[in-house]
Amino acid sequence: MKVDVLLGLQWGDEGKGKIVDVLAPRYDVVARFQGGPNAGHTLEFDGIKHVLHQIPSGIFRPKTRNVIGNGVVLDPIVFRSEIEKLSRFNLDVRSNLFISKKATLIIPSHRLLDQAQEKAKGEGKIGSTLKGIGPSYQDKIGRQGLRIGDILSSSFKEKFQKLVDVHMDILKHHDVTFNWPEMEGQFLEAVEFLKTFQLIDSEYFLNRELTQGSSILAEGAQGSLLDIDFGSYPFVTSSNTVTAGACTGLGVAPRHIGEVYGIFKAYSTRVGSGPFPTELLNEEGEAMRKVGNEFGSTTGRPRRCGWIDLPALKYSIMINGVTQLLMMKADVLSIFPTIKACTRYQLADGTVTEQVPYELTHERITPIYEELKGWHCTLKGLGEKELPKELIDYVVFLEGRLGVPISLISTGPDRTETIHRFRK
Ligand code: GDP
Ligand code: IMO
Ligand code: MG
Repeated sequence: MKVDVLLGLQWGDEGKGKIVDVLAPRYDVVARFQGGPNAGHTLEFDGIKHVLHQIPSGIFRPKTRNVIGNGVVLDPIVFRSEIEKLSRFNLDVRSNLFISKKATLIIPSHRLLDQAQEKAKGEGKIGSTLKGIGPSYQDKIGRQGLRIGDILSSSFKEKFQKLVDVHMDILKHHDVTFNWPEMEGQFLEAVEFLKTFQLIDSEYFLNRELTQGSSILAEGAQGSLLDIDFGSYPFVTSSNTVTAGACTGLGVAPRHIGEVYGIFKAYSTRVGSGPFPTELLNEEGEAMRKVGNEFGSTTGRPRRCGWIDLPALKYSIMINGVTQLLMMKADVLSIFPTIKACTRYQLADGTVTEQVPYELTHERITPIYEELKGWHCTLKGLGEKELPKELIDYVVFLEGRLGVPISLISTGPDRTETIHRFRK
C-alpha cells in the first residue's frame, strides 16, 4: 500500500482536520509529519466541535492508529492538556497513539524566545502563534535540540538544563517577563505524563505497516504558502509543509507516496502577517469572515479574507504533485451574487503573469479577476445531484484552470456535510 498525503494548498486552516476525520475510516494509520501546536485542526460531529493541535485527526476513529512523526515539534504541556480534553470521549488513546522518539521537544523557553524574536521584529513581525515553533526548529537545525527519546534518558535533566542555559543567555538581552520555576515545574510534570505513552521508532513502525499492506494517510499542518522553502518567506512557518515533508517527516521513501489530496477553501484566508494579493479590506472580506467564522482555531485571531487566488493554487499544486483537489467552505460563498477568481497578477511594472513572483512581499501585485455568477442559495442538506448549477460551473471552471479534478466539496463544518464526487 501507499502513503497518501493530505495537505493545505493555501495559508493554512483549509479544513484539513475535518477531512482527515472524514477519510480516516479508509486508513489504518494517520500520521502527522511536521508542525506542532501552531496547528489547530477542527472536527465536528454529533453536535460537538473538537480542536486538535498536536494529536492526529484520526483519533476519533477507533480502528485508526495515529502517529506523531519525527518531523513534528511537540510541546508536552499542550499534549497533556489535549489528552485530558479527550478523556471525556471514551477513546482508546493510549492504544491508538504512537509518538516518534525522533520528534523534537518544545521546552517552555522556546515559547519565550518566540515572544522575544517577534517583539524584536517590531512592525516586521511574522504574526507567529507564539507556540515556540521557530525556536524549536532552530535548535533542531542547529543540532542542539532535545528529542522525545531524550526524556527516557537518565541524563535528561542535565541535557534540559544545558539547553535552558543557552536560552536564558539569549533572553537576558530581551524584555520578556516570566516565572521560570513555575514554567519548569509544569513542563517536567508534563514530561512524566508523556513518558507513559507509546514512544516508538516511527520510521520502522510505518515501513513495517507498509510492508504488511496497511494504508497510511499523512496529515499536513499549515499550508503550502507557509512552507519554509516555497512559502511567502519570511512570513512562513519553520517546516516543510509540502508533500516532500511527508518523506522526511515520517521516514518513508518518495516511491511510497500515493495520492496527494490538495485541500483549499473556495476563497482565501490568512492569519498573521505577510503578503496576500487577493485580500479584501472591505465589507466583502468582512462578510466572508463573519459567515465563514474565520477566527484562528489556535489563537482566536481574526483571519484575513479574500477571493480565490489561482496563480498561488497552481504553484502549490505544482510543488506538491497534487492528484485530487478537495474544495472546502463552498457554503460561505452562498452570500455573494457574483464570485471572483484571480487568474493572473499584474506586477508594478505592468507585466501580467500567472507565476508567483520571487518578491511576493515587496512587489505590489494587482490581481486580475474573472467573474462568475454566484449560486446565492443555501447548500444545507443538499446532495451532489441537487447542487446549484452555478456551483457546479464554479467547480468546473476551477478544474479547467487548475488541471486537477475536484473530488470532494464541503458544504459545512460537520462530518456529514461532505459531498464525494465521482464515487461509484
Ligand atoms: P485546518 O487547520 O485546516 O484543520 O482548518 P481549521 O480547523 O483551522 O479551520 C477550518 C474551519 O472551517 C473550522 O472552523 C471548520 O469547522 C470549518 N469548516 C470546515 N469545512 C467547512 C465547510 O465546508 N463550511 C464551513 N462553513 N465551515 C467549514
Ligand atoms: P493549521 O495546521 C494558519 C501562521 C501564523 C504565522 C506563521 C508563523 O491549523 O492550518 P508559527 O507559529 O508557525 O511560527 O507562525 O504561520 N500559521 C498558521 N496559519 N494555520 C496554521 O496551522 C498555522 N500555523 C502557523 O499565523 O503567520
Ligand atoms: Mg487550523
